[in-house]
Amino acid sequence: MQIMQRYQVKDKIAFLENRLSPKRFRHSCNVARAARQLAQKYGADMEQAYFAGLVHDICKEIPFEEQYQLMTAGTFHPDLAELNSRKLWHGIAGAEFIRSEFAVENEDILNAVRFHTVGRAGMSLLEEIIYIADMISEERDYKGVEKMRRLAQNDLQTAMLEALKDAIASVMKKKGLLSQNTIEAYNFYILQAQEHKTDVIKK
Ligand SMILES: [Fe+2]
Ligand SMILES: [Fe+2]
Repeated sequence: MQIMQRYQVKDKIAFLENRLSPKRFRHSCNVARAARQLAQKYGADMEQAYFAGLVHDICKEIPFEEQYQLMTAGTFHPDLAELNSRKLWHGIAGAEFIRSEFAVENEDILNAVRFHTVGRAGMSLLEEIIYIADMISEERDYKGVEKMRRLAQNDLQTAMLEALKDAIASVMKKKGLLSQNTIEAYNFYILQAQEHKTDVIKK
């Protein structure tokens, strides 16, 4: 299939199967599929979505020292909370990894991987797709996943706002650090929802 050629998806699947635990590999394949479906629904590039979904956790299971090195070697500028929250390193490290090892130059794909953990204000359609696909992939079974799946099919921005609210609540509950990117993303989607409401009233 020509669509799979641009990013040599077959090779990447083999690479990931070797590199990741079976559980993480399955998750990655499921995120890729969910991302492709959302891309089709919302008119994004399906191949890019599939590829970005596939590789989004590519650095999740390498030692933290390696994640740290990749994260700080690249040009993806972790913020203070990201630097101090090891769970967030793999997104930034993953973006640097696919840039340096797979020669991925597409900024949108790099940003989709880089921001899949924290979000950011003004996310592109592809970034939103990867963020949400990660939340709704087939094997996910957390409380509220069905609601998130419904939202994802109705309106990506509303899904993003809900996902960010949950993410922030969960970080606060654990007394974790909130990335500036997450706060700005939350504000961005709140403002967007308010504007949307005003538009509806005006009409
Ligand atoms: Fe991740
Ligand atoms: Fe993930």
